[in-house]
Amino acid sequence: MERVRVALLGCGSVGSQVAAALAAGSESVHELSARAGATIELVGVAVRDASTPREGVDDELLTTDAEGLVTRADVVVELIGGLEPARSLLLKAFEHGASVVTGNKALLAAHGRELHAAADAAGVDLYFEAAVAGAIPIIRPLRESLAGDRVERVLGIVNGTTNFVLDEMDSRGASFDDAVSRAQELGYAEADPTADVDGWDAAAKAAILATLAFHTPVTLDDVHREGIRGVSAEDVAAAREAGAVVKLLAVAERTTGQDDDGAAFEGVQARVHPVLLSRDHPLASVRGAYNAVFVEAAGAGDLMFYGQGAGGRPTASAVLGDLVTLARHRQDGSQGPRVLGHADLPVLPTDAV
Ligand code: HSE
Repeated sequence: MERVRVALLGCGSVGSQVAAALAAGSESVHELSARAGATIELVGVAVRDASTPREGVDDELLTTDAEGLVTRADVVVELIGGLEPARSLLLKAFEHGASVVTGNKALLAAHGRELHAAADAAGVDLYFEAAVAGAIPIIRPLRESLAGDRVERVLGIVNGTTNFVLDEMDSRGASFDDAVSRAQELGYAEADPTADVDGWDAAAKAAILATLAFHTPVTLDDVHREGIRGVSAEDVAAAREAGAVVKLLAVAERTTGQDDDGAAFEGVQARVHPVLLSRDHPLASVRGAYNAVFVEAAGAGDLMFYGQGAGGRPTASAVLGDLVTLARHRQDGSQGPRVLGHADLPVLPTDAV
C-alpha cells in the first residue's frame, strides 16, 4: 500500500484524539489505513512547546517547526485555530502539494475564498467537516449530497454553549449569569465566554454554511450578529408561557433585493440572533449543549442533522473521516468538489431582524 504522510498541527482536545487514533501500530490506524487503501502515517505533531510530553503521542513526533513539518506531508491536519499562522501554514501546505483537513471555522469564515482558490490551483483538497457542528455531518451534505437541489434556507443551532445557557434558563429558570457560570463549570464555556455568548463562533459557522448552501462566498463580515447577552430570564419565561423557546440560530437564506430601478434580484443573507421558536419546531427539542442543523431544500424538503457539536472525541470523528477521504483521493488521483465559483449571488445586508 502507498504511504500517506500526515502532519498534525495542534495537540489540544481534538488534536490529541486525532494523534491517539493515528498512533503507530495502533489498531485504529491500521483500520483507518485499510479503509483508505493507503498506509496512513503520522509524521509529526506541531506544538508550541515540544518539551512537554503528550499522553499517547511519541515524543519523537513533537516539533515546534510547523512550517518545516507541512513540507513533509501529503495531508496536513490543522487544529491550531485562529487566523495566523494557520492561514500561512495552509497556503504553504497547498504550495507543497499537500491536501488539508481543518476544523478552523474562524479561518474559513475570514479567508475561505483565498484558501479554496489556493487548493483548487494546486489540485488538492481542502476539507473541513469539523469546522461546523463538530461530529455532525453537515459540510458534505451541503457540499455534495444537496448539490443537485436548491437549498432555500439553513437554520442552525451551531453553538453548544449558548444552547446550554438558554436551555438552563428555560428548563431551570436560571439567570443568564448563573447559566454561564454553570456552562463554565462543565467546561462548555471558556473563562472568557465572549466568542460563544456574543455569537462570534456561530457567525463564523453561519458564513461557512451560507457559502456551501448557496455556492457563493460569504464571509464573517457579511453576517449580521447578535448574541444572547440581552436575553433575560423574563424573556425566556415569557416565551415559555407563549408555547415558544428562545434559541440562538444561525440563519442562511435566499432573499430578494431591489436594484435602483426597483427590479428584484436574488441574493443571500446570513445572520445570527436569538429567535423565538415554536415548541413544535424540530429545533426546539435540541437540549443542552447539543447542535442541530435544519435544511429546507426545494426538492428534498426539510432535513435535520443532529448530534454533538463540540468535544475532543466527537470533533476528532469528523477530522478522521476527512482524513480517510483525502487519503483515498490521493490513491486514485481524484479531488473533492469545488466549493466556490458556481453562483456568486450578492450577499445582502440584514438591517433589522
Ligand atoms: N465553543 C463552541 C460551542 C464549540 O460551544 O459550540 C467550538 O466551535
